Amino acid sequence: MKALAFLCILFATTLKPLIHLAISSSSTTTSSSSSSPEESDGHHQSYDYYSQSCPLAEQIVRQSTRSLFAGDPRTAPQLLRLLFHDCFVHGCDGSVLLEENIEGGRTERDAIPNQTLKGFDKIDFIKDIVEEACPGVVSCADVLVLAAREGVLLTGGPFYPVVTGRKDSTRSYYETAEEEIPSPNHNVSTTLARFASKGFSPRETVSLLGAHNIGSIDCDFIRTRILNFSGTGLPDPSIPTDFLIELATNCSGNSRSGLNVASGRTSTATASTAIPYYQALSPLLPSGNTFGTHYYGALLKGRGLLFSDQQLMYDRKTTKLVEAYASDDGFTFKRDFARVMMKLSSLSGSISDQGPPRLQCSRLN
Ligand code: HEM
Repeated sequence: MKALAFLCILFATTLKPLIHLAISSSSTTTSSSSSSPEESDGHHQSYDYYSQSCPLAEQIVRQSTRSLFAGDPRTAPQLLRLLFHDCFVHGCDGSVLLEENIEGGRTERDAIPNQTLKGFDKIDFIKDIVEEACPGVVSCADVLVLAAREGVLLTGGPFYPVVTGRKDSTRSYYETAEEEIPSPNHNVSTTLARFASKGFSPRETVSLLGAHNIGSIDCDFIRTRILNFSGTGLPDPSIPTDFLIELATNCSGNSRSGLNVASGRTSTATASTAIPYYQALSPLLPSGNTFGTHYYGALLKGRGLLFSDQQLMYDRKTTKLVEAYASDDGFTFKRDFARVMMKLSSLSGSISDQGPPRLQCSRLN
């Protein structure tokens, strides 16, 4: 019943105007002279942009994401994080997927915050199927946006409408990724400032960070917090003792504890252990690895896995938002999350670096 009410409100407040907009602009989908409000950076984007050029595009992305998810549920969080790291740097242009750069230099994938990204192979898989159906038509940027949305839905998160017609980037922005992607070591004011620089309010930032209610966090990030917080040789004093013991028990494996995340693109994330976000809960709280508000519940108990997560409890405004999201059954959070994902998915960068759809997402055409 509550779910039905949620759908009705989401439809009335968010989806209905947008679907109306989509319908009213659909007749101009291929017209470059359209003045649709969805026009961005000089090229037209619209709902179902590929309705003429590749009518099955969205369905193919949906089905292939579903089959990947059925084989590996980690697909959903991996794609969601990939999307965030793509859109945060020069907008959603698929630049994070590139393995080569125009001047042969380093790529976003080499930047420290991106070295632990996963799911590139999954985007390649989906894109290959799309290419078979419609060669050279659908951008990698759109494939990522659509696949991430499907992943959110598959884990029990909200549906949100997204426009398509994004251009693929013709370059990768190593330096910008190093400079602009937030760090797990940031305090709350730096985190809020990073998101504000991309146009997100504190409320939007807190709801976006709710993405951390799915997926897992590698022990490499946790060991620094529990063994040598800020170079003190001691644990982060904000971690409650029982949680500290739990973290230490779960992340006691020797393997790569001494490694910095900067040490290798693929190695750190795949070989060492990781803690699922939902495990940060006390057994007294309802848990699950599906989309819910357990992230916020964990923060209320001091059980955030990342320092930057727990920092949301060190600012009056963000604390109130965490409390609000934790106190209902997910209705408010899912509604806000749907809205902020639409905003994240529509971030755009400069048009000078935009080109046609890349045939392989990791390669320049
Ligand atoms: C202050 C901002 C953020 C920081 C510092 C941050 C940092 C991190 C870190 C360090 C991990 C663990 C990666 C690993 O273990 O390999 C992670 C995982 C994740 N992040 Fe964030 N993140 C932030 C915001 C976001 C946002 C805005 C989203 C999406 C909208 C997001 C989605 C995810 C997801 C889904 C995972 C789990 C990935 C998986 O299981 O493979 N994060 N994040």
